[in-house]
Amino acid sequence: MMKKNKKYRVVVTRQIPTSGISLLKQAGFDVKVNPKGRVLKKEELKKFVKGADAILSLLTDKIDAEILEAAGPQLKIVANYAVGYDNIKLDDCRKRKVFVTNTPGVLTETVAEHAIGLLFAISQRIVEADEFTRRGKFNGWAPMMFLGSDVREKTLGIIGLGRIGAEVARRMADGFDLKIVYYDIKRSPTLEKKYKIHYLPLRTLLRTSDFVSVHVPLLPQTRHLIGWSALKMMKKTAYLINTSRGPVIDERALVKALKQKIIAGAALDVFENEPRLMPGLTKLENTVLTPHIASASVETRSKMSEMAAKNIIAVLNAKTPPNLVK
Ligand code: DGY
Repeated sequence: MMKKNKKYRVVVTRQIPTSGISLLKQAGFDVKVNPKGRVLKKEELKKFVKGADAILSLLTDKIDAEILEAAGPQLKIVANYAVGYDNIKLDDCRKRKVFVTNTPGVLTETVAEHAIGLLFAISQRIVEADEFTRRGKFNGWAPMMFLGSDVREKTLGIIGLGRIGAEVARRMADGFDLKIVYYDIKRSPTLEKKYKIHYLPLRTLLRTSDFVSVHVPLLPQTRHLIGWSALKMMKKTAYLINTSRGPVIDERALVKALKQKIIAGAALDVFENEPRLMPGLTKLENTVLTPHIASASVETRSKMSEMAAKNIIAVLNAKTPPNLVK
């Protein structure tokens, strides 16, 4: 039920594209955006959310019992501005009957495009070569300069055939002359047929793929899914790509594997302890590192903003939000 005399209070923990904020304002809510231009520290966040009916949170906010307590019993929804919601303690929200929503679907293609971009960037050594050229080291064409790896006729192994993994498969299945294999806890005969992709057990996928692209959510079961033993299973010539969540890869083991040339390279958009990077990672030439920007297109980030806002508008109008996290 809408409050009669008092406006609902919506707090947005960081500036996001204005399209969603406008929707919230048009709906008549009192909207407050964190003015600090950075992630709020825990104590700051506790103060900021006090009295809120809705929190529009980011993946950089840890939403747990303490934050929910600080907000107060009137809190009805935490709308996460991300498809991943490993930053939110679902049980704590459930106990307080606070809805949790995310932004699935709208970022699928953009993240898939970034994963594919990383695949090409690492295998064709684009970033390394760009830096070389900028530094004035290009003294003329040379037959052995920056030899990389072809993509065609190779095997791409997709770990996690959810929306994003499946989109990578769809894009790569047509036009790049690759063999595509996947591993998931659930097989998908429909997608296997549709994209001509093959299911493999994880170990076999790791042993046979030239590119391994990770697309699983962060869960207790997927934390360090790619650790030292998985890396040792991979081909020496293989590349690892991660646009999912950093802790899915044991970053210490990865740095060791890259240093020892256990695998050929890694292209990462996400890191185990963001924004901190594992010491040694930035020193390695066989890496491409982007700062968790896989969904960062103007179009997609605006859609995420609107989607989060619509979830809040639904809940504050006593409706089921369209993107309720089960
Ligand atoms: C997500 O949505 O989970 C991405 O990591 C950020 O857009």
